Amino acid sequence: MSIAFLDGHYLPLEEARISPMDRGFLFGDGIYEVVPSYAGKMVGFAPHIARMQNGLDAIGIKLDWSEQHWADLCKRLIDENGAGNLGLYLHVSRGADNKRFHGFPEAVTPTVFAFAFDIAPAPVADIALARPYKVSSTQDLRWDRCHIKSTALLGNVLHFQQGYEKGHGETILFNADNELTEASACNVFIVKDNKVITPVLDNQLLPGITRHIVLDVLRRDGTISIEERTVTMDEVRSADEVWITSSSKEIAPVVQIDDIPVGDGAVGPMWLAAQTLYSAGKHDY
Ligand code: PDD
Repeated sequence: MSIAFLDGHYLPLEEARISPMDRGFLFGDGIYEVVPSYAGKMVGFAPHIARMQNGLDAIGIKLDWSEQHWADLCKRLIDENGAGNLGLYLHVSRGADNKRFHGFPEAVTPTVFAFAFDIAPAPVADIALARPYKVSSTQDLRWDRCHIKSTALLGNVLHFQQGYEKGHGETILFNADNELTEASACNVFIVKDNKVITPVLDNQLLPGITRHIVLDVLRRDGTISIEERTVTMDEVRSADEVWITSSSKEIAPVVQIDDIPVGDGAVGPMWLAAQTLYSAGKHDY
């Protein structure tokens, strides 16, 4: 049985209850994080918490929790849930009011909810063991604040579903100018002529922690050149390799977009190089 945290208490997940007046429920008015943990060791804990604090500040939710407070919560969830391959879901909503009013209520206490869920074992840097993805692509129809990790995910959900209904594992997104933004729940990288290229951070995409770690381990290694810049749809379609990154997937190779092979349609050597560096370096973050 999974043990969750809700408003100061640890309890079985099935027993956790919130008010239907919670603004997270009524408006998607909240911020969340997903932190991966393997055998009791979290990856990217500090940057995940920093990003959550940025999100809370950006939408004016006042929650006075230190990084240590979050660390204690995560540690307890890991211990209570078997310390295997876990995703730690952390969620703060603005709280429950007694009326439905769009403006921020004066005196509500934020709702803090967290639970742990099983994730796949971390990817192994081995072409034969890679988990390749087939994805769809479509125009990004979400809002203009995709850098905020908001719990209001309907736009992402609808985009994910577009690909899922075609048997695809993700949907990659292009803005109205046919520039790559990200995927419904991942960041996207392309490889061309041994160069690793990913969209520059702006309001159109989430500043992914995995994206950050990938760029950092590549920079530390120094042998592979990197560009953070605008990436066009044509560049994606003619890339040698495409990767999607997220906390639970790490670096996942994409071998087909809209049923057209990426490069030669096989998992590429640059994926192997990047995942090798990621696997070796991720616990430094
Ligand atoms: N998704 N972009 C979007 C829209 C995301 O939702 C995510 C993460 C990412 C990758 O971010 P990170 O590397 O920090 O996990 C990019 C999480 C895992 C989710 O919603 O479940």
